[in-house]
Amino acid sequence: MDLTINGTSHTVDLPDDMPLLWALRDALNITSVKYGCGIAQCGACTVHIGGEAVRSCQVALADVRGEITTIDGLGTPEALHAIQRAWIEHQVAQCGYCQSGQIMQAADLLAHNPAPTDDDIDAAMSGNLCRCGTYPRIRAAVHSAASAMREA
Ligand code: FES
Ligand code: FES
Repeated sequence: MDLTINGTSHTVDLPDDMPLLWALRDALNITSVKYGCGIAQCGACTVHIGGEAVRSCQVALADVRGEITTIDGLGTPEALHAIQRAWIEHQVAQCGYCQSGQIMQAADLLAHNPAPTDDDIDAAMSGNLCRCGTYPRIRAAVHSAASAMREA
């Protein structure tokens, strides 16, 4: 089957029922997408399909409809996404393991809600766990990114 990931086409010969997360990490070596729980409980595996955040551990390859974006495709080193700039500004990442999923979830939030309240942020991010407790920084960074995106 053919998968379009971050603007590049990939042809893979993998079982239809393989979770997308396995294909990304094990077959395509896109290890920025993290395996945390495998059961939709942590958000570490979050990517976008067709612009919507999904848990890649829960999407079978046969059910992928649309282009896949991982954090590698969210911005470029020369032109980071506003979310990525805000994450750096607020020094959000600690161990970093959960962070690609957090950023992809936050990008989805801001694509749908350009001025989220604290409650909106907490609700949107509630499925993304962080063992390092970066939640206050995540909230601050989302507000910063929202503000930057509104001004742009
Ligand atoms: S690895 Fe997919 S939600 Fe935890
Ligand atoms: S930064 Fe360590 S788990 Fe979130």
